Order: sequence, then C-alpha cells, then structure tokens
Amino acid sequence: MGLESVDSYLEAHRDAFEEQLKELLRIPSVSAQPDHDADTQRAARFIHDDLAAMGLQAELIPTKRHPIVYAEWLKAPGKPTLLVYGHYDVQPPEPLGPWLSPPFEPTVRDGNLYARGATDDKGQMFTHLKAAQAWLRETGSLPLNVKFLIEGEEEIGGANLEDYVAANHARLACDYAVISDTSQYARGLPAITYGLKGLAYFELHVQGANRDLHSGTFGGAVANPINALASILASLKGADGKIQIEGFYDAVRPLEGWEREAFARLPFSEAEFRADLGVAELAGEEGYTTLERKWARPTCDINGIFGGYAGPGPKTVLPCTAGAKLSFRLVPDQNPSSIEALFRAHIQRITPPGVKVDVTTMNAAPAVLVSVDTPGVRAAVRAIEAGFGIRPVFIREGGSIPVVGLFKDHLRVDTLLLGWGQNDDNLHGPNEKFSLADFHRGIKASAHLLAELAGEPV
Ligand code: BES
Ligand code: MN
Ligand code: MN
Repeated sequence: MGLESVDSYLEAHRDAFEEQLKELLRIPSVSAQPDHDADTQRAARFIHDDLAAMGLQAELIPTKRHPIVYAEWLKAPGKPTLLVYGHYDVQPPEPLGPWLSPPFEPTVRDGNLYARGATDDKGQMFTHLKAAQAWLRETGSLPLNVKFLIEGEEEIGGANLEDYVAANHARLACDYAVISDTSQYARGLPAITYGLKGLAYFELHVQGANRDLHSGTFGGAVANPINALASILASLKGADGKIQIEGFYDAVRPLEGWEREAFARLPFSEAEFRADLGVAELAGEEGYTTLERKWARPTCDINGIFGGYAGPGPKTVLPCTAGAKLSFRLVPDQNPSSIEALFRAHIQRITPPGVKVDVTTMNAAPAVLVSVDTPGVRAAVRAIEAGFGIRPVFIREGGSIPVVGLFKDHLRVDTLLLGWGQNDDNLHGPNEKFSLADFHRGIKASAHLLAELAGEPV
C-alpha cells in the first residue's frame, strides 16, 4: 500500500475531482467586492469542510476581512513537515461582455475548464487537497506532516495574512513550503519558478482649482490637473524604456551571465509571442531580451487613469481633479519602502506649479529568489517528472506572490513554486481557464511530492 495505490485512486476519481472543483468555482469569492463577503465565507467553509472530511484538524480563522483556513495532519513523527499555501479568493470577473460562458458557471471546452479562479488559484490549490485525500483514503495516513494555509485576501494584497504569519511562527513551522499559483513555461513543458517580482503600487490624486471651470474663460491661466498628471506620468519612463526616477536602479541586482545564457536556451519564438498578442512589435528596456524584461528587470505601468469628461460629444471643461493608479514591478534587491521614498521625492520634484498631488501607497511586496540547489527542489523535480512525464525547466516570472517573502522572513523557508497553469490561461481577464489534463497531472505531481519529500532526511 503506497504510491501505486494512490495513483490508482487518482485515476478512479478523476470525474469526482472535476465535479468538486466545479462546485468550488461556482462560489463567486471575489475578495475585492464587499457584496461578495458571504461568498468568500462560503468558499472558506468549503475548503475547511473538505480538509476536515479527509481527516485533517481544520480551523476557520476569522480576520477583519476574509477568513483564513488552516488545517494540519501531524501524525508522522520524525518525518519532515510540508506547508501548502493557496488562495480561495478570485479577481473580479468584470468586464463580463467578452466571457463566452458566465464566469461562475464552470464550463468545459476543448479540455479546458473555463471559470474565474480556474487557474488562479482554486484549480491549482485544489490539486494539493486532492493529493492529500488520495493518500489518506487509500493508506490511512500521509507520508509526512502536512499543514495547509489557504487565504482569501491574496488578490487584494491584504495585511491580515501577514499579521497571522507573524503571530504564528511556531504553528506554521515547516521544513518545506509549496505553492501552485504560477505557470508552466509552455504547453508540455512544466517549470519550477525560482524568482518572482515584487510590487510597489500607488494611487495619485491631482487637485487643481476648487471647481471645474470653463476652459475658454480660465484655460491658460489656471493649471489643468489632467495636463499636469500627463506630464508627471510621462516623466517616469524614457524613450529607451528606462525608469527615470533618481536612484531607482541603484539596488537592482544585475543579471548574471549564467542566467542570461539559461534564459536564452529556453525555446522562445518572438514572432509567435507577438502574433498571439496582436502587436506588430515589442517594447521595453533597451539592452534586454523579452524574457529578461519579463522576468528579471523592473518595470513601471500605469494601471488606470481617470478625470475630466469622457462622455459623448465635446465638453470644453477645465477639470479640477485627475488621478491615476500605477505600479512598479520590482526585482532583487530593490526594497519596496526605498522605492516608495524615491517615487515620492520624484513626484515632489516634478509636479508642475498650480496643482497639488497626493500619493497613496496601495501595495508593497519585495521580489523573491529561491535557491534551486536544495533537496526540496530535487524532490520536486522528481515529482513533476512523475506527474507530467517530463523534467521541468527552471524559470522566473513577472507576477508577485507576497506570501513567499513572508515565509522567507518569518519561517526561514524557501518556497517551492510549482505552477500548473499556462501563460495563456487569462488569469485576471475574461475567459480564465485551466487545462483539466494539467489539473490531474498537478494532483499526481503533488501526491508524488509528498512521498519524495518524506524520503529526504529532516
Ligand atoms: N497568481 C498570481 C501571481 C502570478 C501571476 C505569479 C502570474 C506568476 C505568474 C497572484 O494571484 C497575483 O495575481 N498576484 C498579484 C499581486 C497581488 C499583491 C495583488 C500580481 O502579481 O499582480
Ligand atoms: Mn494567484
Ligand atoms: Mn491573481
């Protein structure tokens, strides 16, 4: 009774796993929208009940916003402990127009399961629950100690999980941590991610006069906040793609030769990349390849801009306010608070006369790099080979998962980032999907990971 019977349990329960994932995907657990607070509660309860039913000691932990689910099975004395993290909250589904099937009515097309949260992160997170279930149902135990930490505020960068991790070092103590919330490198080519970007997210509010004005009567004599905002935003980046904030690159760890060579060895067609996105050419920082820009160089993007009149027909107005949301993706060793200070100093220096600019910090997380030369990573390579039938490649990604930094700082553990998604899964966008074949491969890889890690010395 061991891995082989676990594998056959997985084969026999494919349909049941899919149906259960669909049930979870029907719950619109949108963390950003207070109208859905009852739904985030329901999703948390669903995860809690599933973990409890398979025999773990499970707990629903209330926070100021969305509950945390914690569950543990610690009946393998002398064996290592694995901490599994995931998030049950999802991004808002809007805009609804482009969805081919409703976001919370999971639908299978071409072997893909379409729904908000299918890949980010309900489907990926669920693979670890089903792997544990197979071990427990089939053998009555797990090969090592396992802790689950499933939160509901990842998509809103909530501070509640940080407080919980900081206050529960002993409870969360572990030898390994694993997260499936990233992507494979390409179809048929799974990956272990060893680097993620950090994030510094700001909202700007520009105030001009005390009321909207006639642009003929007052224009030219009174500052226009949208013009001011445009010049501020335009100052952030040069034509060479470099961010023009004094000191912004000072802490950036340069790419090393071996890493540039490793990126260059990965199969990558720029023409296919462009064609898929419908752009005639790519744009970015001079002197770096597309993969280097995406994975290992800091970036600045304006995420939203608002102000003035945008309705039908012309309106000659000199608006009194304007605003923008913008974010920097950070790389090692940039410190989000230092970047915030540099950004605020830049804004002060660049603000044109006649307007007042307020800067609010919305989000901050450091970039992470994890070691790839560890027993945990070698175990993960073997587990992925078992689940996917091929050795994974090592990649970095441009997204951010703030908890990885928390695990490093508070628990002193490097996280195994084993992503089962694809780059075209449309996470955060309309028609989010997750391949059902990858769902089952991920479950198998996770089931094997438990055995592989159990075989490593504590
Ligand atoms: N799962 C993503 C992170 C991700 C996306 C990693 C793509 C690798 C590739 C996660 O749920 C997410 O969306 N993170 C946010 C940051 C968060 C603080 C809102 C992100 O990266 O924008
Ligand atoms: Mn995610
Ligand atoms: Mn996300």
